[in-house]
Order: sequence, then structure tokens, then C-alpha cells
Amino acid sequence: MPSPITSRRHVLALLAATPFAASGCAPSNLPDAYAAWRTPGAGEADPRRHALAHAILAPNPHNMQPWLVALPGENEIVLSPDLTRLLPATDPPNRQIVIGCGAFLELLDIAARQNGHRADITLWPDGEPQPVLDLRPIAHIRLTPDASIAKDPLYAQITQRRTNREPFDAGKIPEDGALQTVLAAGPGFESGFASAPERVARMRDLVWRGWSREMATPAALKESVDVMRIGAAEIAKHRDGLAMDGIAMEAMKALGLLSRETMLNPESTANREGAKIWKKLADTAPAFVWLRSADNTRATQIGVGRAYARMNLAATAQGLAMHPWSMALEEFTEMADLYAEQQAMLGGTAAAPVQMLARIGYGKTVKPTPRRGLDEHIKA
Ligand SMILES: Cc1cc2nc3c(=O)[nH]c(=O)nc-3n(C[C@H](O)[C@H](O)[C@H](O)COP(=O)(O)O)c2cc1C
Repeated sequence: MPSPITSRRHVLALLAATPFAASGCAPSNLPDAYAAWRTPGAGEADPRRHALAHAILAPNPHNMQPWLVALPGENEIVLSPDLTRLLPATDPPNRQIVIGCGAFLELLDIAARQNGHRADITLWPDGEPQPVLDLRPIAHIRLTPDASIAKDPLYAQITQRRTNREPFDAGKIPEDGALQTVLAAGPGFESGFASAPERVARMRDLVWRGWSREMATPAALKESVDVMRIGAAEIAKHRDGLAMDGIAMEAMKALGLLSRETMLNPESTANREGAKIWKKLADTAPAFVWLRSADNTRATQIGVGRAYARMNLAATAQGLAMHPWSMALEEFTEMADLYAEQQAMLGGTAAAPVQMLARIGYGKTVKPTPRRGLDEHIKA
């Protein structure tokens, strides 16, 4: 996921050279891209809409938000994939998209509990689609009022959780106990962490090579560039994808240094500056966590997403920042050698793979990413 973040000094020089003030304001007639994060579900009389308003805040690849829901009967939800929102170049088997659907179901479940409902979830009611997703539903969910259902303390973290792409404090290594608490939040998988400097150094090197390989693979790069939302107006219009906002982005856009064309050229100023920033993100990672599964069925991928969402929430509760780094886990041909190296490093295989890998540490707080809003997901 290349990004053209540029250095402060460079931006200041660009701004000084700009003959006009770059504005970071979205046109006022467009919806607020961040509204979904404020008191989700407030005022919703239908418990399904209450739960779903939380579910759409789930982490998901490239923030594609590939979730379609139907609301048959009084208390049922049918979740299906939005086949127009997949990432075939970087995620050919749709494995990562399914993980994002698992995260969606976990947040739905936690929110339903908070609202006094039990969510009975049946996965893949019409069978598991292979080798890629099709129109068959991901899950059938029934919400039932249940006075005995336990609330989940992670609920409080749903609106606070972020994917954090800031550098982490390399000198502040999370305690083993804190990392174990994060892993314990997502049970059922072979999860692990690395915080010993020598091991972390090898992982930093590999995640960086994964990033560079993706950048050097035209179809993979284009897939990310196609969903980059550059500046406040594009972000407000789409409310998905890879949001690049702030005065630096607006200035670079206004100067013609940041556009879809420049982003498609790995040698452009924007991409060279972005690479420096991403290298720093790798080099300052104080620790990594990962999730490995015993098989790779669609149901397992959903379980991984549920577990990852819980780990991200548990990290948030402890003031720890998390950032998935998936490039060397991706299954496109050009990544094959690094995929094999990453799996071997963490004890995985293609049949029982490492499914998620994230850097973890202490970093600046970041704002949420856009969401399209619940009504955009509801099938007529
Ligand atoms: C399966 C999966 C893989 C992901 N891989 C990456 C990644 O390689 N790099 C990255 O920056 N973010 C990655 N993310 C994070 C998403 O980009 C992020 O969840 C999305 O942009 C929404 O932002 P949020 O998590 O802050 O709500 C991944 C998320 C999921 C669920």
C-alpha cells in the first residue's frame, strides 16, 4: 500500500513555492466521511441497524468496505460480499477480503451483546465459495433478545480502534505481558509475537522487501492507486479506499506532484518520498504480532478476521498502536518467493498459513478512516 507521504521540510518548501493557499476542506454539500464513528447506532430502533452501525467500523483491506446486507424478516441479517469491491491483484483468492468480513462479524456480535442481543451466526449457509468469492452469502445472522448475554468490555474500544501508519517509538518495546494480552484476545489460532531485537530486525527487513515488491509490481501498485482518495474533496465523495488528506497532500496535489499518474510511477517524487516514510515505519517497528491457522477454509478466514479485530481492540485498550503489514502474505505471482520466506519464518505453509502480520508499538494517535455509512450497505 504505497503512500506519497512527504517530509515536513519538503512540504514546507513546496508550500512556500505555492502561489495560493491549498485548502483541505471538503465541499459542504458532500457527506461527512467520518460521521459513522460518532455514536454509532444512536437512535436506531432496529437492533440489527444498531449492530451493523458498529460492524461497518471494522478493519478491512484497503478500506474497501465490501459488505452488503439484506434485512429479511424481523430479526435476520444476510451478509454478502460486494463483488465490485474486491482486490484481485493483491488478494487473488479474496482471502484478505474474507478476513475483513470476519472483523465485521466480530464487531456486529460485540455490539449486539452490548444491546442485550445474542447473535446466532451461520457461516456460508449455501457453501464456501472457492477459489474466489461469488454471490453466495457469507453469513446468516439472527439477533435474539437475551437477558443473560454477557457484555464485552472491548465494546468501548470500537470507536477508538485505528490502523496506525505513524512511526512507532522504536525504543519503547511493548512488555511481553501486554503482547500476550493482545494475543489472548483472539484465541483459537497459533498466534505469536516477536520483540527480541535480532528477530525484529529480520522481520523489519522482510516486511520492507514485501512493500518494495508490491510497489514494483504494476498491477498491484495500480490497484492501490485506483483507490487512493487524494484530498478532502475526493475523500468526502468516495468515503472509502486509501485516504490521503491534510495540507501537505492538498499542496502536492495542487502542484501536480501528487496525482494518480505520479503515483503510478515508482520513480516519481511522491513515491520516492513515500518510500522513505514507509521504510521508517518498518525500521522503527519495535515488535510484531501474527496469527497462523491450522487450515485455510473460508470459515477459518472469517475466524481469523474475528480474532484480528479483537486483538486490535485489545491493543487499543492498552494504548498500543497496531498496523497490519500484509505484502509478503499476499498470493500474487510476483510475491511468491517472499510469501514462502515469510511463511517459513513464522512456521506457516500455504495450507496452514500465517494469515495476519502486524507491527505493534507506541505511536501518535491518528484519526479514523472514512466510512460510507450504513445505508450504503443495505441491499434493497
Ligand atoms: C486482512 C487485512 C489486511 C490489511 N493489510 C494492510 C497492509 O498491508 N497495510 C496497511 O497499511 N493496512 C492494512 N490493513 C488495514 C486496512 O487498510 C485498514 O483496516 C483500513 O484502511 C481501515 O482503516 P481502520 O482499520 O483504521 O478502520 C489491513 C487490514 C486487513 C483486515
